[in-house]
Amino acid sequence: MRACTVRSLAKINLDLRVLHKRPDGFHELRTIFQTISLADTIAMAYEPARQTVIDIEGSIDIPDNLIVRAAHAVLEASKLRAHIRFTLSKRIPMGAGLGGGSSNAAAVLLALPALTGKPLPLDRLTSIGTQLGSDVPFFLQGGTALGIGRGEELFPLPAPPARTALIAASDVHVSTPEAYRALQRPLTNADPGTDTGNFGSLVWELGENGSPDNWSRLCVNDFEGVVFARHPPLLSIRNQLRRLGARPALMSGSGSAVFGLFESKERADEAAARFKGSDIRLHKVALVSRRRYRAMWFKQLREHVSGNIWPPQSRYAHR
Ligand code: C5P
Repeated sequence: MRACTVRSLAKINLDLRVLHKRPDGFHELRTIFQTISLADTIAMAYEPARQTVIDIEGSIDIPDNLIVRAAHAVLEASKLRAHIRFTLSKRIPMGAGLGGGSSNAAAVLLALPALTGKPLPLDRLTSIGTQLGSDVPFFLQGGTALGIGRGEELFPLPAPPARTALIAASDVHVSTPEAYRALQRPLTNADPGTDTGNFGSLVWELGENGSPDNWSRLCVNDFEGVVFARHPPLLSIRNQLRRLGARPALMSGSGSAVFGLFESKERADEAAARFKGSDIRLHKVALVSRRRYRAMWFKQLREHVSGNIWPPQSRYAHR
């Protein structure tokens, strides 16, 4: 039996623009993804078997868990049958726009081939990931990335300057498909949807390691209008984070989590103290660069991996 325990990080969207609806029913995006240190933990044990059985236990029961679907997809792509046991400790709030389910799926796509000894190339993992969810391919890369298309066409961006993030989670659950519908975007062929406003300027600012004060002024999340209209307390949280000095303070994904970036841990602590007594759960986390993301992955798979080629290559693979 081969086993490992991995951390599966959350993401925030430093910017998110939704353009037109596409003929396939998805929407064309322009977004900037950023991994953060808020994480679930997944333990996995793998053993070849005549019949595939995949078990999952954990702190919470999730129907149709993406972890199980990702594991089936890896076994199928590798033409293997196995017993796989997962234990999931959830810390990333669900239905919050933090990419927890997608990150869990990507964690399986990165770790399982290291255990099986049948590596799958990154483009194969990316196409499996895209079928599981639009945000999965991002977690196969990590760090700071520009996402276009459904968010699965990714381009690396340099890491922004070190910042401490406060993630404000509430009990509000936002349905992603409903949030997209509420935007009422026209179809591609009705309007080519070139209105990306200052998105290009923001990408350049980040790319040139511009001052956070400059780039944070450009950050937008197109979902805020429709989601805040339905859940006004989320707008109050965002405004309060802004008043307390967060640059930017924004909703992540289609919500409901709201985040603020602070220039120091102390400033973040002072801001967090102002939320004491409310029913908002605050997570103080760091932005995780691609270099740190990959180092974390190599470390947590070190027993099963050789070399430092991305994605991690199994030491059990026959060459
Ligand atoms: O791919 P994912 O499972 O995250 O998407 C959930 C839902 O969000 C989709 O079924 C679709 O309704 C909507 N969506 C979209 N355009 C995207 C991503 C998601 O319309 N780019």
